[in-house]
Amino acid sequence: FEVKWDVEAAEKGGYEHFMIKEIHEQPSAIKDTLRGRIIDDSEIVLDDVKITKEDLEKIDKIFIVACGTAYHAGVVGKYVIENLARIPVEVDVASEFRYRNPLVNERTLTIVISQSGETADTIAALKEAKKKGSRVIAITNVVGSSVSREADDVLYTWAGPEIAVASTKAYTTQLIALYLVAMDLAIKRGTITKTKVMELCTELKKLPEKVQYLLDNKDVIQKFASEHYNAKDVFYIGRGLDYAVAMEGSLKLKEISYIHSEAYPAGELKHGTLALVEEGTLVIALATQDDLFEKMLSNIKEVKARGGFLVAFAKQGNLQLEGVVDKVIYIPETLKELTPVLTVVPLQLLAYYMAVEKGCDVDKPRNLAKSVTVE
Ligand code: G6P
Repeated sequence: FEVKWDVEAAEKGGYEHFMIKEIHEQPSAIKDTLRGRIIDDSEIVLDDVKITKEDLEKIDKIFIVACGTAYHAGVVGKYVIENLARIPVEVDVASEFRYRNPLVNERTLTIVISQSGETADTIAALKEAKKKGSRVIAITNVVGSSVSREADDVLYTWAGPEIAVASTKAYTTQLIALYLVAMDLAIKRGTITKTKVMELCTELKKLPEKVQYLLDNKDVIQKFASEHYNAKDVFYIGRGLDYAVAMEGSLKLKEISYIHSEAYPAGELKHGTLALVEEGTLVIALATQDDLFEKMLSNIKEVKARGGFLVAFAKQGNLQLEGVVDKVIYIPETLKELTPVLTVVPLQLLAYYMAVEKGCDVDKPRNLAKSVTVE
């Protein structure tokens, strides 16, 4: 009698693919990223980020540099750091940043984000920033990785190994790391109130259970995917933070299901993309931001009037889209800044189930690598 071990199946822990396993690991990954870093809901402790109040007085600009999904996390980071710490932030993809002689000097703080810590362009961008005199903080998932060694300060995401090429838990934990950095900078610069810090801390800690709620309701997304996996093009639209998440949702879909998809700021639709919307075109409209909701509603109506098939994401309790769009996905209530962590989850599931329905090699999409260590 011989017991045969399938090592890969064992590593997948009962899930069909690494990607869906990693999507489900997000509640615990988020907890791990937060662990020990919030004290009494009023203090942020980031062990290896040693930047002081005095150091910050000499900083007048931040650059966030990354590739792929990490870049999309950076777009959220820009919004949050600018809002909380009131410092101008520029976000750039590493392969652009490194070749354009960026305006970086000793008064610039650079934040590089890299799951693997080994992406060639990101490492080169980090070196370029340091050469120009900038202090560099690395947000990475891999202890001892190249970026962690080259950077001045390091913040680990503690997401655990990510095997699937399409990044999921690395993204949500990068967002958590960026919230912590933004709060840390804001507290040191005195640009945030104690009440706001407390609110953010309380809500950050509630995110794991809210992500779990979205995962528990994945059947709705799975069913939707089984009905729409033949889509030729999918457009993702949103404003503000929803636009940042739209970019990540669109990347997830195209990289694993090979369906053509694009993300647009909803206000730009009229400047071209609307010409592509015809009867039945699938449009995913993210409308989770209260202050931008009315604007989104009018964009949604424009798309609907052209015959688009509309799926909207709205905050739980906001019923204004019922009857206006074809389907509404509800996102649990949280602070505005934190919604990306929740909104992205059904988008990851949608990409996953569309790819599964199409019979794609979900964990190893064609032409792509987990870590791009060559140029
Ligand atoms: C590759 C991966 C992406 C990842 C990007 C950046 O393209 O397929 O999932 O977002 O590299 O990788 P990094 O390890 O630097 O975050």
